[in-house]
Amino acid sequence: MASSETITLSAADYLRLIVHGTTAYELLRTALEFDLFEKLEAAGGMELTEVAAAIDVEPQPARVLLLGLTSIQLLTLVDGTYANTDLVRRKLLRSSPRFLGPLVDIQEVINPSLVDFAESMRKNTNVGLRHIDGPGTTLYQRLTVHPELQKVFYANMGDASRKAFDQILERYDFSHVRHAIDIGGGDGSNAAKLSARYPDLTVTVFDQPTVTELAAGRLPEAESAVRFHPGDLFADALPQGADAILYFHIFEIWSLPRNTELLRKCYDALPDGGVCLVYSFVSDDDGTGSMSAGLVSPYFLTLASGEGMAYSSRDMEQAVRDAGFRQVQRYAGLGFSHALIVGHK
Ligand SMILES: C[S@@+](CC[C@H](N)C(=O)[O-])C[C@H]1O[C@@H](n2cnc3c(N)ncnc32)[C@H](O)[C@@H]1O
Repeated sequence: MASSETITLSAADYLRLIVHGTTAYELLRTALEFDLFEKLEAAGGMELTEVAAAIDVEPQPARVLLLGLTSIQLLTLVDGTYANTDLVRRKLLRSSPRFLGPLVDIQEVINPSLVDFAESMRKNTNVGLRHIDGPGTTLYQRLTVHPELQKVFYANMGDASRKAFDQILERYDFSHVRHAIDIGGGDGSNAAKLSARYPDLTVTVFDQPTVTELAAGRLPEAESAVRFHPGDLFADALPQGADAILYFHIFEIWSLPRNTELLRKCYDALPDGGVCLVYSFVSDDDGTGSMSAGLVSPYFLTLASGEGMAYSSRDMEQAVRDAGFRQVQRYAGLGFSHALIVGHK
């Protein structure tokens, strides 16, 4: 049974959905590939033969897809007419501000690697990286030689970051900051949002060369106070002269000792009075959820780096303190399963 906010399933169906998770995912991805939700919405609902004609397939395969989507409660069927559920309207139509398409697309990069989850656990490293060739030992390094995959990755990362950034602006006042370094700043989505809100603040995106290139293509320097500094987080010095460092969606990539080491590097690069903002996906302090944290963590072990996960905000706070920061503030329980820790030097 589905309402706009809640779906009720029997325990047996819940387990079925887990066991057949790959099929459920493919039903959804295929509906998006055929633009089915958009077509149903535009038509105000369609019968089977109309759907088959609209997505240019025979009625029999259309029937298989429609049965699957109706069984997982993404479509309704009333008097022979298929229509989108409220959930689809809120999250699976391109015009929706909460559209999840980029998150669905990135699973195509992640899912093939997850068959190696158990072996990654045994070896305590990202065995699933074998599915993507290229240099280095992390997904981020491999993506630099796969421009198409890199595009899919940043379409999702940038989208998730833009959605989750406003709550930072609501909670933290940057008016005392003159220059922020956005380390591992990705496609510049966070930098662009910060710069738009604080036009006098300079933001330097520090990331791998192919990534700063991609970011610079999205946000030409001439049009904003966003700057780009290619480099390696571990091998190179951080850019000088900043009084704030953004450490956004970096914490979940690395082990706790490596985070402490990187945060110490941030501490050393800041002047007295400087701040480091650590903002990440997190799990609950009690280790029971959220579901989003539980489902994203195997990706960090199996593919991304072989050592990260959605840590708790308590872990994050401890690492910031261990790196030497004083007056540490914790903003936990934020939306999108996020937390923000601010450390002052
Ligand atoms: C999960 S993404 C986060 C992007 C961005 N901070 C955001 O919140 O949208 C991690 C970023 O760290 C960068 N990164 C990973 N390893 C790096 C390294 N050794 N040197 C520089 N950047 C690195 C990746 O290229 C990627 O853009």
